[in-house]
Amino acid sequence: MKILACNFKNKLTYSEYQAYSQKLEEFSCSFVKTIFIPPFPFLPLFKSKSYELGSQDISSFNETTITGEVTAEALKSLGVAYTLVGHSERRKYKNEINIDFINKINNAWESKIKVIYCIGESLEDHENGNTYMVLEKQISEVLNNVATDNIIIAYEPIWAIGTKVWPDPKEIEETTQFIKDITEEKYDTSLKVLYGGSVDDNNIKELKKIKNVDGFLIGNASLSLDKVKAILLEMMGE
Ligand code: 13P
Repeated sequence: MKILACNFKNKLTYSEYQAYSQKLEEFSCSFVKTIFIPPFPFLPLFKSKSYELGSQDISSFNETTITGEVTAEALKSLGVAYTLVGHSERRKYKNEINIDFINKINNAWESKIKVIYCIGESLEDHENGNTYMVLEKQISEVLNNVATDNIIIAYEPIWAIGTKVWPDPKEIEETTQFIKDITEEKYDTSLKVLYGGSVDDNNIKELKKIKNVDGFLIGNASLSLDKVKAILLEMMGE
């Protein structure tokens, strides 16, 4: 089943999330696994049987007492089934590095929370032809140190996030295949790969044709339920 993961980031307020989640009461989509990923405080608003709940982060600590952290067990108790790890915004603004991702993935694994591990190259690396080298490093330095059975990879080129610019579909297909091939080779398992970066209701018709992509991770478009529904409709069609 294809996946649509909707990362709200930190864009809305309580009343806006409340209105959004109320509109979701009628929501049902049995053909695409839909995951809504609100900020921590709003997770309980999105508990439902007709879609999955995801968190934008998970603590890298487990049994340590640290004020302000949200542990895997706490997330599990809220019904969280997926968590993002390694998003480029956390790499950039929170200076998160491989050891953080490894600890987060291990904690998620222990609580049976699936991980959407985000990777992607900068514009400079893209322009210099370093994409595969960067991706392979981001994959192996983390996945060599964790169990890989509950991991989905999200390929999000940094230069495509929130920019209304995205790679040529052929390039997404080749990069996705590269990711699948190296995970198969290194970990004996072909991981699912999502594409993220400026996906919306206008380009989904083109992007959904990419054969080996298992779904999409959307940011801005997730803030409009009409856009989410339009994307799902396209994904359900041939
Ligand atoms: P946009 O869809 O806004 O480009 O964001 C992508 C993203 O970062 C999802 O995690």
